[in-house]
Amino acid sequence: MKRRHFLSLGVATLAAPVIISRRTVAAEPGAPLPIPDVMEVGPGAGNILSAIKGRAELIPGVESDTLGYGQDYLGPLLRFQRGRTASIDVENRTDDPITAHWHGMHVPGYLDGGPQLAFGPGKTWSPELPVDHPAATLFYHSHVHGRTAEQVYRGLAGMIIIDDPEIDDPLPRDYGVNDFPLIVQDRSFDRSGRLTYDLGMMGRMQGFHGDDVLVNGAIRPKLTVPAGLVRLRLLNASNARIYDFNFTDGRQFHQVASDGGLLPSPAAMVNLRLAPAERAEIIVDFSDRSAVRLVSRNVGSGGMMGGGMMGGGNNTATLDVMSFDVGDASTSGPVQLPGFLPATVSDLGEPVRTREFILNISSGNMISSMLNNLIGQDRQTMGINGEPYDMSRIDQQVQLGETELWRINADMMTHPFHVHGVSFQVVTMGGRAVNPAAIGWKDVVHVEGPTEILIRFDKPATIDTPFMYHCHILEHEDAGMMGQFTVG
Ligand code: C2O
Ligand code: CU
Ligand code: CU
Repeated sequence: MKRRHFLSLGVATLAAPVIISRRTVAAEPGAPLPIPDVMEVGPGAGNILSAIKGRAELIPGVESDTLGYGQDYLGPLLRFQRGRTASIDVENRTDDPITAHWHGMHVPGYLDGGPQLAFGPGKTWSPELPVDHPAATLFYHSHVHGRTAEQVYRGLAGMIIIDDPEIDDPLPRDYGVNDFPLIVQDRSFDRSGRLTYDLGMMGRMQGFHGDDVLVNGAIRPKLTVPAGLVRLRLLNASNARIYDFNFTDGRQFHQVASDGGLLPSPAAMVNLRLAPAERAEIIVDFSDRSAVRLVSRNVGSGGMMGGGMMGGGNNTATLDVMSFDVGDASTSGPVQLPGFLPATVSDLGEPVRTREFILNISSGNMISSMLNNLIGQDRQTMGINGEPYDMSRIDQQVQLGETELWRINADMMTHPFHVHGVSFQVVTMGGRAVNPAAIGWKDVVHVEGPTEILIRFDKPATIDTPFMYHCHILEHEDAGMMGQFTVG
């Protein structure tokens, strides 16, 4: 069942149009959704996360070269409890340096797993993480500068759930029964069905966009859910793709949490946009017992140079994500959605300082750096405030405990902007004021025009292991759209 698929993408005057031919796997009914094994991580030894080289059958019957944490592709679901230390031994059994970055966690710089903490094959890194974060769905992934995109693409990523014993969460929370992790990633396969990571010119500029969607490492899987309320924890672990998730029958669902934890009340919607590294927990009501599919409308990553001539997203079709079948009625969990949730969005106070960030597709000479990006020179040509990332340069110094306003914008395209070590509140998006409480705690904001975020810095980071801020389009990050800051 091979369907070939041609894309024709013009790059205006900079290069001749390119024709890319890839295999798109036909939409057969999928295999069951794999549910990641849970690794409860507490204090004490014995929690081993081993980065390995894997052989995974992402396309049934065809093995691909992959990477994983303790498994062929992706990693276990890590469960941490607020107030307890999470001790973990991260081993590197691959051929290259790796890290394990706890994306979204509030830990000091030396525990954060950023690029300075890369460690080589045969080495083990054993952080003891003080878990000081409200209940939330987080992300972990490798973060080696210049290699993050390919390492995450091959599988060095997973989900973290933080439980908060102090908060009585009135939502479905029976893991694998009515509470499911959904790690969504777009991937491409060659004609034989092997995973490929071919960036080409468009991918270098816009980040990688694949033709097929995997959920928890399975292509367009199927999940049987109980008839009743079901919680889906969506993590966009794609390198660059933005999703607009919706159900084929147009049903309404409710978002109950964003990146950093619960919202003050469930938000009704029929469409959910998630940029790379964003998370959302949604509650879907399956009590009508009708089967349905989750799809995504293709979303561009914003016009290049305002004209939309490189609109991202590659084509206009709908992407199939996964399908749902409904089984027996729920035997656990609430039957009704609560009106209010024990959210933790608090008042950060007035900012004492404002900083400005411009995300640059072209740092320095625009035409020459665009050309460099297109032809894939090794030189980093993307940047922030005119400078590509430099591991030996500290870009910002922040005072511990202070609240700041960060203003972010871009010279071209839209970008998911991420800050390490904090959760922040979004004040302005696309130039318009928004309600920070309704958006909840965030650690990634999709910058689609002037954006303002309010941040309080509560965890320290020194010169040796500073925190990062960067675009979470992984190809942009690797090309230098990243900076670093100390907190002290
Ligand atoms: Cu998902 Cu710098 O991180
Ligand atoms: Cu991060
Ligand atoms: Cu970007």
